[in-house]
Amino acid sequence: MKQQLENILNSALAEIETAKTSADIETIKLNYLSRKGTLNSIKKNLKDLSVEDKKIVGAFANEVAQILENKLAEKSDVIYAKELEKKLESEKIDVTLTGLGHQAGRVNPLTSTINEIVEIFQGLGFSLIKNENSPEVETEYINFDMLNFPPDHPAKDMQDTFYAELAPNVILRSQTSNAQIREMFSAKPPIRVIAPGRVYRCESVSARKNNLFHQIEGLLIDTNITFGDLKGVLNEFIRIYFGEARPTRFRSSFFPFTEPSAEVDVQCIMCGGKGCRVCSGTGWLEVLGAGMVDVNVLKNVDIDPEIYSGFAFGMGVERLAMLKYAIDDIRLFYNNDVRFLKQF
Ligand code: PHE
Repeated sequence: MKQQLENILNSALAEIETAKTSADIETIKLNYLSRKGTLNSIKKNLKDLSVEDKKIVGAFANEVAQILENKLAEKSDVIYAKELEKKLESEKIDVTLTGLGHQAGRVNPLTSTINEIVEIFQGLGFSLIKNENSPEVETEYINFDMLNFPPDHPAKDMQDTFYAELAPNVILRSQTSNAQIREMFSAKPPIRVIAPGRVYRCESVSARKNNLFHQIEGLLIDTNITFGDLKGVLNEFIRIYFGEARPTRFRSSFFPFTEPSAEVDVQCIMCGGKGCRVCSGTGWLEVLGAGMVDVNVLKNVDIDPEIYSGFAFGMGVERLAMLKYAIDDIRLFYNNDVRFLKQF
């Protein structure tokens, strides 16, 4: 039995000697030292020996186990160190390789269009409205009633305007014209402000319509202001924005808060007035609504219509950007697809 043990010891030591990986070490441990391993099966046979022999052979078996455990530990340290070195070698980072580069973001064309338009009007003597005078969450009272909308006006309909469910008469503004009322309430004439912002309308989304869009409102109140002043300011704006003096036409229109009212068209930039798909064959594109501030509105905000008069205008930012850059689907503005944004 002692001889058997010696044989086991020698063959195990030889295996340890030639072991190359930590997996080899585990196999040796399993084969010799585990509960089902060779050493244990020898120990099971000790019961057949005499008391004397049991002592000697048992002690020797323990000694063999001890030697093997020590050797295995030594060898596995060496193997582990080698394996670690190899791993580090393979994971080495070459800091001299060129990187992936940064993908810079782009300014959304709506933002740059708003900035551009605001700058044009600043150049014409208007100043940017204070945020608190142009809120997106508004009362029905300021968005409609103060602007001279009759109580049964169709724009107030639940199908056109987003109403808050919990607070009665609270809405998402349907137009930036609410800024007119708040500005006239808080400032004395002369007033010359420009108010860009988001507006909301409950309509189905299509290539031409989104239920969130942007408007830029303008308001000027002073003494001796005429429709001629309005025309002069808007024509000058169109000349600067489109980069050339494009033919415009002022078409008579109606808004509850302006009288007289007009819608302004510019000659189609795609076909030069001949008529095409973009202008539906008319040769003209509508770009904004405008008019002289209605006497009723001035009275609502306690401005004396005998002394002061003024004009207001409101333009759709998406529409102006689509015309200038020949964009044919409004939804492109909101997707933030870099392939689209990169073009500006
Ligand atoms: N608020 C109007 C609209 O949304 C536009 C407008 C503004 C018209 C100011 C006249 C004066 O259609």
